[in-house]
Order: sequence, then structure tokens, then C-alpha cells
Amino acid sequence: MSSTTDTATNAAQETDFLTLNGTDYIELYVGNAKQSAHYYKTAFGFQGLAYAGPETGVKDRVSYVLVQDKVRLMLTTSLKSDSEISEHHKKHGDGVKVLALWVDDAYDAYEQTIKRGGKSYMEPKTITDDHGEVCMSGIYTYGETVHLFVERKNYKGAFMPGFEKWESTYNPEPVGLKYIDHCVGNVDWNQMNPWVKFYEDVMGFKNILSFDDEDISTEYSALMSKVMSNGNGYIKFPINEPAEGKKKSQIEEYLDFYEGEGVQHIAIATDNIIETVTALQNRGVEFLNIPGSYYETILDRVGEIDEDLAPLKELGILIDRDEEGYLLQIFTKPVEDRPTMFFEIIQRKGAQSFGKGNFKALFEAIEREQANRGNL
Ligand code: FE2
Repeated sequence: MSSTTDTATNAAQETDFLTLNGTDYIELYVGNAKQSAHYYKTAFGFQGLAYAGPETGVKDRVSYVLVQDKVRLMLTTSLKSDSEISEHHKKHGDGVKVLALWVDDAYDAYEQTIKRGGKSYMEPKTITDDHGEVCMSGIYTYGETVHLFVERKNYKGAFMPGFEKWESTYNPEPVGLKYIDHCVGNVDWNQMNPWVKFYEDVMGFKNILSFDDEDISTEYSALMSKVMSNGNGYIKFPINEPAEGKKKSQIEEYLDFYEGEGVQHIAIATDNIIETVTALQNRGVEFLNIPGSYYETILDRVGEIDEDLAPLKELGILIDRDEEGYLLQIFTKPVEDRPTMFFEIIQRKGAQSFGKGNFKALFEAIEREQANRGNL
């Protein structure tokens, strides 16, 4: 009996060599960070947190850091054409560059992942200012996307050294966004399993759910998806790849327009999706339209729920149930002109899954948009 326990303990230690405390921040490289910051404040209710740029001693770029509860977004634009940021933006348009993960030891996170085959993006370094120190390191993941490991236990400032607190007189109300629930990556044909293996081998994640093209197909197009989770479940990264269908997969459309692999959507949790989505819609955030017929039979499928159906239907919020409970979710249209990244708003009421029961309705909605763009 004790040997079983020992084996289990050893297995846990073996797999949890990379303890992640949560998402630290998400950085997007954008064409005009000043205007993007205004959009995320106005439309999504983010608050200004920190700023870096020429005024703070950073000569070649500007970065605005926005916050809403535990969600931190960084928006960065290069001030010169000749830079890695400008090259990234030229190729991909606005998109996620960094999924930063909060760790206790950024030096150890680097050592552990590099020795397991991770490709270095940033060697460990310690940056300091009057408020303390932050240690950082980083590795590449799919496409040109990177994971930074951020250790901030000895830091008391607004964000990190190099940034100043961003004071603004324009502070629209938050909309109730709480934390990052999951971030989804789109990878190329036949690349889902290699990236699943990367998250298993290099970062100690487990594959907790899989969807094949039978689960996720409509009359026209298909995709496959596997959900990767770290040991404590704080970080979940579903990985999608296109699958063959009669017409072009929505993942293929993303890959064509992003010109490579990258982050498809960021799912942010709320504890009152009706209030949050009402506020977002009032501020001009556009969501995928779900046909009214979806709601005719929905309660037969998901059973009793706490919410009235009328506001859910009015707002276009989707419902799904698994063994542990149910969830409410809705998806924005892409937030750039290229049909690439979008947001999901999710409220979990026990369910730990990802809305499999909604895939068909959802993908048909995406395909209507795709057809409108002439890309189906
Ligand atoms: Fe999602």
C-alpha cells in the first residue's frame, strides 16, 4: 500500500516540475497600442495599470498594461520599422505574442523546460527598480508565440521594472471580467499531436479532453482539438488543428490570415455573464449571432438552469452541461480586421468542460461569418 502511495507521490513530483500559479499577463503586438488601449478600456472595461515607453526610458517601443480583476493585458507597438515587433506585426497583424505564466522561480522554470527540449526565447534575468525585483525567462511555443515565466514574489510596484504606474482621467467602469479561463492555440495540419507532446514533455501538462473531427464538424468544415492542462489546473491550453471537410476549415482561415500558428481565442471568466455581456454589447463589442432556434430545445438538452432563458436568448449566450454542472459561454467576432483572434466570455456553474454541446451551433455561426468574407 505504501509503495502505491510512493509511486503516486513520485509521479506527481515527476509531472509537476513546473508549478504555475496562474496567467501573469497576455501581451499583444498591435499596430497602434495607444488606440488599442482605448478600445480595451472603452469596450471591455479594462483599467490602466502601467506604461512603458520613451518617457520611462524605453526608446524603441511603447507598452500599455491594462487590468481587470486578475486579467492583465499588455499592448505593445514598436516605434521603429526595423524591429522584431514590427516584423511580427507586419506578418501576423494584431495578435498575441506572449502568454506569460506566473511562477515561483523563473530560473528553475527555464532550466526544467529547456532540459526537456524547450527552445529558448529569453534566458533568465532579474530586473530591478525601487519597488523590488522581477525575474523572467521564456521559451517558444507554437508559431512565433512565446511563454514567459514571471517570478514577482519580491516585487511591490504596479507591474514590473521598466514600467510606470499609468494614471488616467478616463476610466470606464469594469464589466465583471475576472480571470483567464483558457487560451486556445490554432496549429497547422497534423501539428496538434506534436504540440500536445510539447506541452506534456516540456511543460508537464496533461491532455484532459480530446475532440475529433466527428465531434467538431458541420456540413462543411471540421477541426480537431485537444485540451492541455497543467498539474493544478490553473492553466488550460486547448490546441486546434484543421480537419478535412467539404469546405475550408475555420482553423485554416485563421492560419491563412494570421500567416501561421497562433492564439485563436482568449476565454475570460465572469460570475455574471448576463450583466457582463449586456455591458459589453452596450459598449459596441460584437458577438457571433446564434439562431433563435438554438433556444427552442436547449433546456431539453441541458436541463434546469438558474438563469431565465429570455435574457440568454436576447444576448445570444450558449449553454452546455457536463457531469459536474453547466456553463454559459459566448464568443466575440474577431477583434481585428484579419479574421484571427477573438474572445470568449464564460461563466462556469460547476462544469469544467468547454461547451462541446455548442460546437455545432457555434461553428455554423462562425461559418456564416466566414462565408460573408468569401473564405468558406
Ligand atoms: Fe474556448
